[in-house]
Amino acid sequence: MCGIVGYIGHKQASDIVLNGLEALEYRGYDSAGLVFFDQQNRPELIKQTGRVKNLLPLLDQVNRANQLAIGHTRWATHGLPTSNNAHPHTNNDQTIFVVHNGIIENYLQLKSLLTNQGYTFNSETDSEVIPMLIDYYYKKLKNFDNGLRAALADLKGTYALAIINSQQPDTIYATRLSSPLVIGVGQDEHYLASDPNAILEHTKKVIFLEDYDLAIISKNKIEINNLSKKRRRKIKSELLDYDQEKSELGNYPNFMLKEIFQAPTTIKEACVGRLLADQGLVKLGGLEMVNSQLNYIDRIVIVGCGTSYYAGLVGEYLIEELANIPVEVQLASEFKYRKEPFSRSTVILAISQSGETADTMAALEKVDGYGCLKLGLVNAVGSSIARMTDAGVYCHAGPEKAVASTKAFISQVTILILIALYLSKGNNQDYQALINEIVNLPTKAQAVLDQAANIKKVALKYKDYANFLYIGRGYNYPCALEGALKLKEITYIHAEGYAAGEIKHGPLALIDKSFPTLAIAVNSSPLLNKTISNIEEIKTRGGPIIALATMGNKKLARIVDDVIYLPDALGPTQAILSAICLQLFAYYIAEAKGLNIDQPRNLAKSVTVE
Ligand code: F6R
Repeated sequence: MCGIVGYIGHKQASDIVLNGLEALEYRGYDSAGLVFFDQQNRPELIKQTGRVKNLLPLLDQVNRANQLAIGHTRWATHGLPTSNNAHPHTNNDQTIFVVHNGIIENYLQLKSLLTNQGYTFNSETDSEVIPMLIDYYYKKLKNFDNGLRAALADLKGTYALAIINSQQPDTIYATRLSSPLVIGVGQDEHYLASDPNAILEHTKKVIFLEDYDLAIISKNKIEINNLSKKRRRKIKSELLDYDQEKSELGNYPNFMLKEIFQAPTTIKEACVGRLLADQGLVKLGGLEMVNSQLNYIDRIVIVGCGTSYYAGLVGEYLIEELANIPVEVQLASEFKYRKEPFSRSTVILAISQSGETADTMAALEKVDGYGCLKLGLVNAVGSSIARMTDAGVYCHAGPEKAVASTKAFISQVTILILIALYLSKGNNQDYQALINEIVNLPTKAQAVLDQAANIKKVALKYKDYANFLYIGRGYNYPCALEGALKLKEITYIHAEGYAAGEIKHGPLALIDKSFPTLAIAVNSSPLLNKTISNIEEIKTRGGPIIALATMGNKKLARIVDDVIYLPDALGPTQAILSAICLQLFAYYIAEAKGLNIDQPRNLAKSVTVE
């Protein structure tokens, strides 16, 4: 999704900004742009649809001697992906330039006010009102700083902003509200980015901006005022202790296939130093430090979006079954607006791969006043959600570059098993069996991957159907939801996930010979026979059926049209094996259709707007 990079110093700013934007490419975007002032203080504004590298030929046509630049990658929310709608946006005099992440909710109202004042707009975006509004107040108040503050006070919504103006060609203004922004500190130079990964190769010394901070950044000085607290803020820099996450394709045709095939390693990485199988111990350092609070919890609310939400649903079954603590899983986008009782003895657990998902961040912000413990299960080290939570567990799955999440789900579920075991304090009859099972899980995951050719054969047989139903029970119900999401995202085929027991309450009406069902019917489910009855109900109505079954289950092969066999495993670990299989199933259909698998249409990796 949208990304911001800025630089001021003694190096060629436009090149640094361009490199930074490239580091953010995997997040998904549809256009890019940057602006800098040339030696005569004239602005060079360059923007283009498509890849960041499309800016290069345009940059080659201008004098690149510049020491200050701001740039942006845009993921369209308001207005089509066109070069006019790309950032930076500017005022009518082309003296103020702004890049914006987030959404200005009252932009229509502001646009109409400004139009009445004679301003003309060149884009369909919400963002363009910002430079116009700053211009309006600047002219009125005759002071840029005051004009900017007045404009910010009128904005409703979320934003991370980098702003430059031709009167102060040696200054970048930066501010944020519910959208991340970080300043990188160098030797007589400063960087700015919405994601530290964009600047990590230059500096690890950073200052994270807080909501309502307004930073005035020059080569060798930073001043930060907090506009809400109405005072200058003490600047506290911190040293990031991780390197830029690099990920190469190797021999894989795309990142999604690579990331699916990383499942065995992902499981191992999630468990390193945490699962001490021979001692029957689960050690989660991040949770140990809040043990005293964990001893008094009586409810866990898990929040997340998309795939992370589905991992949370597996976690609900797990924690309730193993640790006997009531769990509720909520979509972050719903949770943040719900009015519900919430007490200090409830723990909120936010699950997120990117650690930057706006809805999940807002869910955490909502509980700020309740004094409850905030935990995170996050992949991206140092991300906003990791910093917003009191404690938590990192996935350590490494960078996930394909937009559709695969290895993050595997990692999240693995860690949720560890969390459930940890919270159970060993008081569960399945405790040691599950620990032993996790030790074997990478080998079993590899066994699923070894069947890729067979999964592909089945996928190709079904690639032309327009609809799919995915069903499962227990741990495999969230897997059915996740499998259907993967199919939708990367093949654009309509798919619905359902609890198998629910199909007779409605979805059965859809079933005919053109509507196949993918049924997860594995031996580990105590309700296997009930799922088989559901399969029979579908069969009777002429629906084609693919079953995910446990190796050796011959009975299912006689009922269904196609079977994909999975290794036998205990309940929650079985969900991981089913998920890998469903990821491959969706992948091979998308491949056969010749689609852009890593960057499906309309989607972005990191969803930083509501
Ligand atoms: C699905 C997918 C999305 C994300 C969701 C949450 O393949 O990628 O549904 O799972 O946007 O993202 P994170 O986990 O980064 O909070």
